[in-house]
Amino acid sequence: MSNATSLDAAAMQRAALLADALAGLSRPQKTLPCKWLYDAEGARLFEAITDLPEYYPTRTEMRILEEAGPAIAREVGPGAPLVEFGPGDGEKAVRLLRALEAPAAYLPVDIAPEWLEAAAARVSAALPGLRVWPVVADFSAAFDLAGRLEGAAAALGFFPGSTIGNFEPQEAAAFLRRVRAGLGAGVRLLLGADLVKDPAVLVPAYDDAAGVTAAFNLNLLARLNSEAGADFDLRAFRHRAVWNPDAERIEMHIVSLAAQSVGLAGRVFRFAPGETIHTENSHKYRPERLRTLAAEAGWAVAAMWTDPEDLFSMWLLEGCDPDRARAARSALC
Ligand code: AVJ
Repeated sequence: MSNATSLDAAAMQRAALLADALAGLSRPQKTLPCKWLYDAEGARLFEAITDLPEYYPTRTEMRILEEAGPAIAREVGPGAPLVEFGPGDGEKAVRLLRALEAPAAYLPVDIAPEWLEAAAARVSAALPGLRVWPVVADFSAAFDLAGRLEGAAAALGFFPGSTIGNFEPQEAAAFLRRVRAGLGAGVRLLLGADLVKDPAVLVPAYDDAAGVTAAFNLNLLARLNSEAGADFDLRAFRHRAVWNPDAERIEMHIVSLAAQSVGLAGRVFRFAPGETIHTENSHKYRPERLRTLAAEAGWAVAAMWTDPEDLFSMWLLEGCDPDRARAARSALC
């Protein structure tokens, strides 16, 4: 990549961040999109979150993947290219690729090229000889990978981590439809989803004793200061995680501790004491609800795995055949 290209990319990122911040902070309930949580510092803090005693999702999903590996491999069969959405550090892909039978290739998809390169490097180092083909794309919008997958066995999509929980339910269904349409015939999808559980377990996972999640959330304001020229006083805000029982989701907010004004791009945003910026939703699923959501998006459940405590779930979905569903008089699909 030439210098000019990377400078342009950084400038475009800053412009998009600023536009999102101006729009989000102008709304009655101030919001900032959660995708901006992941700059280099945010990515580092998120990695630290995954090691926290309170944050059960990552280690639980890893354990499920380890134990279900042989069953997943049997269901998927040989030669499937693996397409992962939001590969993170590539660790889960390594685990899955080692379990699969002769995977044809690994295609990590992410909007951030830096992240993609790290995941690709880790997978290449762990599985020398495997074809690794990073794809820079925003999977929260339309994508088409079918052309890259031609000639190979049917693809396996991989969407771990309960990242699906960041989507509103209707966005999640739209994403599932896009995967079905964008990955070619016979596609299957291995999907990780966090389960509804006692808020006494959920809330500490998003508000840990060591304050790492607080730092992760407040880093968004630091980022607005450094990249968009805002003047947030970070000591005048604090992190809050709440369970929303109606929407069955954890919400992260940033709470203003006082009446204050913040400048951004020549505009002034006022905060009342206690007013919040809503920064993330992390939806939790009941198995039946996930099954219905998948069916609405054209997927049938081939298999599902959980851990002994029912904290987290891993789903193997396959495109469902409307004719077969009709013949079986099933409303699903
Ligand atoms: C990366 C979206 C799965 O929702 O649990 C962790 C992000 N936010 N702690 C999640 C997150 C606060 C995480 N996901």
